[in-house]
Amino acid sequence: MAVCVCAALPSLLLLLSCGVCVTVGYPFRPPMDLDVTPRITVTTSGLLGCRRFQTSVVNYSTLLLEEDRGLLYVGARGAAFSLNATDISDSTARTIEWEASTEQKQQCLSKGKDNKTECYNHIRFLQRFNSTHLYMCGTYAFRPLCAYIDEERFKVSSEFEEGREKCPYGPATGYTGLIVDQQMYTASQYEFRGSPDIRRNSPSPTVRTEEAPTRWLHEADFVGSALVRESEGSTTGDDDKIYYFFTEKSQEQTPYYSHIRVARVGRVCKGDRGGLLTLQKRWTSFLKARLVCSLPEYDLPLRTC
Ligand SMILES: *[C@@H]1O[C@H](CO)[C@@H](O)[C@H](O)[C@H]1NC(C)=O
Ligand SMILES: *[C@@H]1O[C@H](CO)[C@@H](O)[C@H](O)[C@H]1NC(C)=O
Ligand SMILES: *[C@@H]1O[C@H](CO)[C@@H](O)[C@H](O)[C@H]1NC(C)=O
Ligand SMILES: *[C@@H]1O[C@H](CO)[C@@H](O)[C@H](O)[C@H]1NC(C)=O
Repeated sequence: MAVCVCAALPSLLLLLSCGVCVTVGYPFRPPMDLDVTPRITVTTSGLLGCRRFQTSVVNYSTLLLEEDRGLLYVGARGAAFSLNATDISDSTARTIEWEASTEQKQQCLSKGKDNKTECYNHIRFLQRFNSTHLYMCGTYAFRPLCAYIDEERFKVSSEFEEGREKCPYGPATGYTGLIVDQQMYTASQYEFRGSPDIRRNSPSPTVRTEEAPTRWLHEADFVGSALVRESEGSTTGDDDKIYYFFTEKSQEQTPYYSHIRVARVGRVCKGDRGGLLTLQKRWTSFLKARLVCSLPEYDLPLRTC
């Protein structure tokens, strides 16, 4: 399997995080004449000049680009990589191998999980923690674990920590996460029976979206998140916002809209500490809005994604 990126990777990340209604939306062109119209097909000629990083590893699922360091970090099944962002085929690639143990794979199988997909360690979270360390989480064959990575040596530098509250159990569960100023923000369905939520996991106590009596999310399936700093130069960053992109079951009760899923953007304030009397450990700043996407080439009566 291969990861394939061209020079304009920032736009890829940008498009992936904004283009929630696009399956493959990357215009493979130099940044100068970048066409930001979402695309759902890419011609083979558009892939010329593409660099490849190739190993026997499969299921590349997590990308973290650090332009200032010139590195692209990649999380996959049983491995994480640090690649030269200028040329990902460069031989300086470094690898951390992190497979689930045989015992854990066995336990996963005995729980009735699929040993071709679920009973592996899929690295689903990979973010910078501080100037010297990254933080990663993997599904670890249905028992999520997390650890710090010493970036300079590109080695796991800590004991593995419990990851249940930070990372989903399976490789296909909708999930997104960020570390902002050493605080971890994630959104997913963590427990098998639980409802998906948007939360700040650390530092404790966890602040999250409400499930009952009023549900703020309806079977949400998360695809991405982004930090928008608004308090430039502020030490507390109290007006910084975190945006989440997801789909959820529509609540509008019209003949057309019932039971369909709609695209949403949700937002919380970074400075939110939860309520004092009501909304304890719940966001007091949570808002969500509908994303209406128009795809003129499909003459759909409902312009939803
Ligand atoms: C992982 O890759 C394998 C081999 O390409 C594929 O069969 C499987 O569906 C992938 N799993 C996920 C969760 O993407
Ligand atoms: C990354 O690749 C570029 C282009 O091949 C090269 O000039 C640069 O030295 C490489 N960086 C590292 C850290 O190896
Ligand atoms: C999955 O489990 C089945 C039945 O236990 C076994 O026959 C098969 O070899 C296993 N496959 C993998 C990839 O471990
Ligand atoms: C970054 O965090 C790691 C893990 O907590 C810690 O060991 C390291 O000392 C920190 N580095 C700096 C520069 O604070």
